[in-house]
Amino acid sequence: MSHIVILGGGPAGYVAAIRAKQLGADVTLAEMDALGGTCTNRGCIPSKAMLRCAEVAREAHEMDQYGVEVEFKSVNWQKVLQRKDQVVSQVRKGVEFLMKEHGISVIQGKGRLVEPHAVEIETDGKTETVEGNSVLLAVGSVPARLPLPGFDLPGVLSSDQILNIQQIPESIAIIGAGPIGVEFADVFNSMGSKVTIIELLPRLVPLEDEEISAELARSFRRRRIEVFASAKVSGVVERDGRPVVQFEHEGKPRGVAAEVVLSAVGRWPNTEGIGLPEAGIEMNRRAIKANARMETNVPGVYAAGDAIGGILLAHVAFQEGRVAVANALGQGTEMDYRAIPSVTYTHPEIGSTGLSEAQANERGMDTKVGRFYFRAAGRAVAEGHREGMAKIVVDAATGKVIGGHVIGPRATDLIHEVVFAIHTGATAKQLGEMVHGHPTLSEPVKEATEDALGVAIHK
Ligand code: NAI
Repeated sequence: MSHIVILGGGPAGYVAAIRAKQLGADVTLAEMDALGGTCTNRGCIPSKAMLRCAEVAREAHEMDQYGVEVEFKSVNWQKVLQRKDQVVSQVRKGVEFLMKEHGISVIQGKGRLVEPHAVEIETDGKTETVEGNSVLLAVGSVPARLPLPGFDLPGVLSSDQILNIQQIPESIAIIGAGPIGVEFADVFNSMGSKVTIIELLPRLVPLEDEEISAELARSFRRRRIEVFASAKVSGVVERDGRPVVQFEHEGKPRGVAAEVVLSAVGRWPNTEGIGLPEAGIEMNRRAIKANARMETNVPGVYAAGDAIGGILLAHVAFQEGRVAVANALGQGTEMDYRAIPSVTYTHPEIGSTGLSEAQANERGMDTKVGRFYFRAAGRAVAEGHREGMAKIVVDAATGKVIGGHVIGPRATDLIHEVVFAIHTGATAKQLGEMVHGHPTLSEPVKEATEDALGVAIHK
């Protein structure tokens, strides 16, 4: 029986372990911290738990619009933290259960590649060597640190540390407006903090379609979240016991003082100290180089998830883990990155997939673009959602759907019909003709698709 040794029990590692078992292999998985990795313990799950509390707090202020008269007292932050910890614990236990259920041997300890097919695992000062027919490196990532002065001052927190902040800060300055930055901006704005965002690039969520960024910026402006875009941070200093972020904006030096500063400037693969240079593994800076079959340059050694850089998302890691072990067990298969959903859980939420209009045009493609606004969809109106839109990008030459961008209620769920359309090569005509339930939040996707063809009904 083939034996696979996996380093890391996050989304790439634990999914790979289960899939390898399903394919008949024997699996040993080494995890130095908690099963579930960043996503379960310090990322997707705790942040979603906090965002849910933020949503409830925000809605509590709006209840009278729905005829419900209650008096808002306050947010009990300790209860928010307790609930978040319970959610994390429940999800982590789920992963632990799956490992047992599938008979996966989990060793608690830090693994290091000692030979292409052997891993040394250190637990409480003792080491054991485990050999396999193949090894999967799924060691994840850590928050990136800017090499600027002042980032070690008290009050300057990483996305790991902010999850355990003991009280709601009166003010918070957030450096970076990627998914992590904007999600925490949403949380603390909803909790009553004064929020300022400082972003190097010209707009919020700079990887999203420009119209989506603009819609989020409008929403954040309404909520009095202050945004400095195209702002170059030079460091953090301490003044009157508070951190002050210093940056240049529109040619002028600026400073934002806040009780707390959150550094949300990306994540780095966590690849140091695990024997990679010694084993001759080729790297792309901090990331392990892997091809579409998740193979590294060393035969029998595979890599998946945040450790290989690229798109640092849990669901990409899930899929890369599956692909890696399928190849390790002789099934030739490759990653397909064409229809990966990107999901950001701000209010309004953002879900996008495929190409943006600008990306398609950069590739020389002729596009047809359709838009539809949630304020014209009955279900959204009934639920009180006035913000947001769906935008569909179609390849004019083939009529195929090549991109979808939704900002609005449940956008992170709604985007999946566009994911399916791109995944299966559907045309805009096929997606537009599909009957959608009425009234549902999915109708803007249908109407935007029909709009691209010039036949939207409610626009
Ligand atoms: P990110 O790389 O997406 O965003 C970091 C932002 O910081 C960028 O917009 C960048 O321009 C900005 N930045 C960099 N240096 C700066 C500086 N000196 N001053 C001001 N701004 C600066 O990374 P983020 O948001 O930290 O997330 C890390 C990873 O985790 C990403 O790959 C992200 O996709 C993933 N993630 C996804 C989530 C989701 O999809 N809901 C949630 C959380 C994380």
